[in-house]
This record gives sequence, structure tokens and C-alpha cells, in this order.
Amino acid sequence: MEVPARPSTTPPRTVGVLGAGTMGTGIAQLAAVSGARTLLYDPVAEALERGLGAAEAALDRQVEKGRMGRSEADAARGRIEPLADLGQLAPAELVIEAAPERLELKLELLGSVAATVEPACVLATNTSSLSVTEIAAGVPGPERVVGMHFFNPAPVMRLVEVVAGAASGERALRTARALGEAMGKHVVAAADVPGFLVNRCNRPYSLESLKLAEERIAEAIRIAEAAFTTRAQSAATAAVRDITAIANEVSVRIEEHVSSVESRERLEDVLARLHQADERLRASDERTRQALRHLRAVPDESEQEG
Ligand SMILES: NC(=O)c1ccc[n+]([C@@H]2O[C@H](COP(=O)([O-])OP(=O)(O)OC[C@H]3O[C@@H](n4cnc5c(N)ncnc54)[C@H](O)[C@@H]3O)[C@@H](O)[C@H]2O)c1
Repeated sequence: MEVPARPSTTPPRTVGVLGAGTMGTGIAQLAAVSGARTLLYDPVAEALERGLGAAEAALDRQVEKGRMGRSEADAARGRIEPLADLGQLAPAELVIEAAPERLELKLELLGSVAATVEPACVLATNTSSLSVTEIAAGVPGPERVVGMHFFNPAPVMRLVEVVAGAASGERALRTARALGEAMGKHVVAAADVPGFLVNRCNRPYSLESLKLAEERIAEAIRIAEAAFTTRAQSAATAAVRDITAIANEVSVRIEEHVSSVESRERLEDVLARLHQADERLRASDERTRQALRHLRAVPDESEQEG
């Protein structure tokens, strides 16, 4: 099903967010700023508290930078309600799942949510690497399940991919698009293929950056500098900042999506080379490590703009 180009529906006024980690906190902040009552659930009490603190601090920074008035920020903070119990999600019109990237966990969680909310409630997953179709197939009412793929940091990055699984219905897709637009995002429709649109396009950049670093053709800092200048920064800086995370992501893709022996062997070869690159970078000279520390202190270009 194609994601409708224009929303013909009003955005949901009560939004549930599952998981108060890196992504859930940013998504809850966006939902609250858009004016929605925002129900933030996390089974780990400390995570919930930390997430609320992070959202509050992020709103305060917006005020300090003159991007938001004090009363607007306070009102947004007031719209975020922490939930320790899934049963309290009942009034949600759309729920965004931002829990750990494990299929069984997401299926169990969304199954419980489906039993709590109204049948019309849209269930969106923020998964990066699992199949939306597969998630939907394990949830009662798969036509109401869609992907809403935000990028990190969610409040700053402008794009949201709305991903149509095989069973996603038009109403659910329209509602997700309407919420993304109410959050001030540019929404693109994406097919349910590994990497969706953006990560799929970034993949060759990431792999080439890793290869350059691995082969010592350029120091990691030079690759990142070049990437900043060409605006392909997300791929290359991710490569030098967190090579292990990329290796893990590739590994998830191998498990979740690759069925043919030939593709598996090719990807496993890539994975082995990523691990080697990681080992070599870990053992690299102090100068590169200092450069990486410096790089971490440099804000993303997108943050400066956003
Ligand atoms: N971090 C990124 O850059 C990024 C970007 C786009 C999408 N994603 C996707 O977003 C999702 C969340 O990633 P994250 O980086 O925010 O993870 P995270 O580890 O920062 O946060 C996950 C949160 O989920 C909570 N949690 C654990 N079990 C739960 C349950 N049963 N129900 C609800 N919450 C539960 C944890 O306590 C934690 O607070 C993943 O699917 C990931 O693939 C991540």
C-alpha cells in the first residue's frame, strides 16, 4: 500500500510512546510539542525518570537558545505523562514503539498494547532493521501497524520515514503521516525493505568510509572532515564514531533479512572485515584517538541548523 501523499486526517491528540530511551524520549518530546497528550511508558523506572529528565532538559535548551518560549516549553513538559503500567495507554489514538530492537520483545509488547487500546488505535514501530510486515503479522489487527522511522536525535533530524508493511491500511498510514507533519517533520513514504530508504542509501557511504579507514588510505578524522563538508556526515561520522554499532546492525540484518547462502556469505565477509577494522582502529595511534575525541565534541551540522 502506497503511503498517501497528503494527510486528509487530523493528527492524533493522544499519543503513546513505548520505551523512554534515546529515541522514545525524543519522540515523546516531539509529540508533546506538537500539542498531543503524550503517554510515555517504560517498564524500567530509572529509564522512565531519566527519559523525562532528558526531555525536560532538551526543552530548557530550546528556551535558552530562544527557539521556544518558557510557557510553551512548560506546557509541552506538562503534556508528557509517565506510565508505569501499559493499561494506562487505553486513551491513545496512536502508539509509537521505541523499545529494544528484538522481534520477540516488540511482538509481545505490541500484542499487550493491542489488547489495551481501542481497535482504531494505530500502532507504529520505530524499528530500524526489522521487517514491519513481520511485526504486523504477529499483532492483532495488522492493518493498523505501520513503521514510523525517526532518526537520532529525533527532535533535530527533519525526516521521518512512514513505512508501509504488506498489510498496512490507508487510514493508519494517513494518521502516521499526519502526526509526523504535526511534529514539523518532512515525511517520506518508504517501502518495507531492509534499511528502508535512508539507511539503504547511506550503507555504501558507511562501508566505503570503513574501508578507507581499514586500509589506512586516510585517517578516520580526515574521512569525517570530508564527510562533514559534503553533507554525507551521518554515514561517515557514524562509521568513525561507532564502528561496533554498525557491525551489530549488519549482524542483525544478516539474521533478520538475508536468506540466500550467497548473500549471507557476502555479508558475513563484510561483517568480518568490519570487526577487523574495529580492532585496528581500537589499536590505532594516540593521534587518531585524540582526533576522534575532538570529533565527538563537534556538534552535528544538523544540530546547528535545527
Ligand atoms: N538509537 C538510534 O539511533 C535509533 C534510530 C532510529 C531507530 N532506532 C530504533 O528505535 C528503537 C529504540 O532504540 P533506542 O536507541 O531508543 O534504544 P534504547 O536502548 O536507548 O531505549 C530502549 C528503551 O526501551 C525500554 N524497554 C525495555 N523493554 C521494554 C518493553 N518491554 N517495553 C517498553 N520499553 C522497554 C528500555 O528500558 C529503554 O529505556 C529500536 O527499535 C531501534 O532500532 C534507533
